[in-house]
Amino acid sequence: MPCNCCEITDNAFSEAEARAEIKTYRKRGPAKQTKLILEAIRSLGLKDATLLDIGGGIGAIHHELLNDVAHEATHVDASSAYLKEAKEETARRGNSERVEFIHADFTDVASNLPQVDIVTLDRVVCCYPDFRSLLKAAADHSRKAVALTYPRETWYMRIGLQVINFFQRLMRNPFRVFLHPVAEMESLLQREGFVKTSMRRVSVWEMALYQRSG
Ligand SMILES: C[S@@+](CC[C@H](N)C(=O)[O-])C[C@H]1O[C@@H](n2cnc3c(N)ncnc32)[C@H](O)[C@@H]1O
Repeated sequence: MPCNCCEITDNAFSEAEARAEIKTYRKRGPAKQTKLILEAIRSLGLKDATLLDIGGGIGAIHHELLNDVAHEATHVDASSAYLKEAKEETARRGNSERVEFIHADFTDVASNLPQVDIVTLDRVVCCYPDFRSLLKAAADHSRKAVALTYPRETWYMRIGLQVINFFQRLMRNPFRVFLHPVAEMESLLQREGFVKTSMRRVSVWEMALYQRSG
């Protein structure tokens, strides 16, 4: 597996967490912020689209969009625990032939992957220090839209994430969470040829949909 800060991310998500998430997903469906991404993508009215889900976790986005919007998906994730659960659920749904799974830091493998219609990053930029490289690579791979969720840029989230990182340091765990500047993420995606066409919030999360202009 190619590795940039993949090892850190891989260790951050345990098998127990991944199992708990898939259990919750099977019982209650996608999480609230994931639903915002799904609604935004569905609002585009695409059919037979290709999807790249970066940091897809247990794979909720492709499990859902393969029902109506996408005909195939690529799921790139740095976490082997999440990928294992995502693969099992994909097989359970009879979709194994339609999803390619790649265990890697996306920025390391991006140059080997083709462009797709839709790129999604649900709660991913906040796990990755270099949001510029990640979003630039994500934008390069999208023909039509990029949808992402990230923590709302508020004073209480700033404090909340600092507290989490304090305890991570205390436990000598190198994994950190990040509150990246929303305005900078937006300027970067604009420079890459995208315009923000929708933004919604739920609890501590913000979802933004960007569409390729022109
Ligand atoms: C908080 S989890 C979110 C999982 C899923 N998208 C969701 O919302 O349930 C963050 C995920 O992003 C992955 N990740 C973070 N940075 C990544 C990168 N640069 N390349 C690939 N995966 C990454 C992690 O391994 C993890 O699975």
